[in-house]
Amino acid sequence: MSEVQAQYEAYPYPERDPADERRRLITGSPSHPWEIDHFLFAGQRDWTRPLRALIAGGGTGDGLIQLAALLTAAGRPYEITYLDLSTAARAIAEERARVRGLTGIRFETGSLLEAADYGTFDYIDCCGVLHHLPEPQAGFDALSRALAPGGGIGLMVYAPYGRSGVYPLQEAFGALGAGLAPRDKLTMAKRVFAGLPEGHPFKRNPHLVDHDASDAGFYDLLLHSQDRPYTVNELDDSLARAGLELVSFTQPALYDLDLLLPEGVRAPAGLDRTQRMALAEKLRGTIKTHVAYAVAAGRGAQALARPSDLSLVPQIKGGTGAQLARVAAAKGALRLTQGAEKITVPLPKSAAPLLAAIDGRRSLGGIAQRAGLDPVGFAAAWAPLHRALGDWGLMLYARP
Ligand SMILES: C[S@@+](CC[C@H](N)C(=O)[O-])C[C@H]1O[C@@H](n2cnc3c(N)ncnc32)[C@H](O)[C@@H]1O
Repeated sequence: MSEVQAQYEAYPYPERDPADERRRLITGSPSHPWEIDHFLFAGQRDWTRPLRALIAGGGTGDGLIQLAALLTAAGRPYEITYLDLSTAARAIAEERARVRGLTGIRFETGSLLEAADYGTFDYIDCCGVLHHLPEPQAGFDALSRALAPGGGIGLMVYAPYGRSGVYPLQEAFGALGAGLAPRDKLTMAKRVFAGLPEGHPFKRNPHLVDHDASDAGFYDLLLHSQDRPYTVNELDDSLARAGLELVSFTQPALYDLDLLLPEGVRAPAGLDRTQRMALAEKLRGTIKTHVAYAVAAGRGAQALARPSDLSLVPQIKGGTGAQLARVAAAKGALRLTQGAEKITVPLPKSAAPLLAAIDGRRSLGGIAQRAGLDPVGFAAAWAPLHRALGDWGLMLYARP
């Protein structure tokens, strides 16, 4: 058994108690059905057709349970294959599904490098796994081979700058713990960690929290034997080599260079999208994971939902249109907490009636009609909302 396998048998990740399924559903990115629709199916997926999904490296099941539970609640058909090397993680994921009474899930123990042996998939979730493979490119390639035509991938990989302080500690603990069993390694590392000087870059980094959450979190963050982060450029390159293309990050605003440059400072002309995002990643400095959707190369433009299509239905994540309308009318801006940062997103007061019309069923065309706007007037009024909410991942276009 490899060291990585031994880790996830000893510390299935993330640490979860299946009994908690009775009181809450963990939601997040990637793999919320609205995101899948918005980033991979242009907001137009026909959800009466079963979604064939693969959860590659599903761990204790957060992505799996979210997808299966939300589709079940919406009465939408699916066939989900869960795949992971760790039998301990699988046992927890299976129990979570059982507690919720979820059906339609096939549990498999094996490597995502053989993903295509399990079928072809409309959607593949691969969250927090590729950067732990001995040869990550082989993982990108394997997932690409398992995609059905027209399908897409939701993925998360580590990013370097927001994880500053992690890698020197991983190296030091790796050397100190060589030959120790996972539990002894954890005990040793926690003792050393407790005595680190306050000025250590890890201690100065407010974005790192996993080590405080659980033993599995500490192990995953600081004792991993295989962990390589990706810059925007490196991610773009790995996707391209696998015949894939980035559709979008789930929060494109994080990578928006214009939001980081003061008036009068301009990026050199001729930078392409990736180069601009790579510069933004360096200037922002706090991105610790890249959460992204990808499709076969050449399909990116048609995969992404765009509000020029008035048949699209906007959905508000984590709230309602009515709530946002009240915030817009009262404050003209929305305050967001983004990791350890506070961000202010402008929400023009004049947009309050448009926000109030978002009910999860009404199309953009219906919203325009209700507001008495013709398509040109609506496009002008909607654009700032799309930028403010869409670019922070708070508004998605998806079939209800
Ligand atoms: C950090 S956990 C992420 C779990 C889950 N995707 C999540 O985001 O909560 C990484 C998981 O990938 C699994 N894994 C690592 N290499 C794998 C491989 N080659 N094939 C399948 N699973 C793998 C591990 O066993 C572990 O459960």
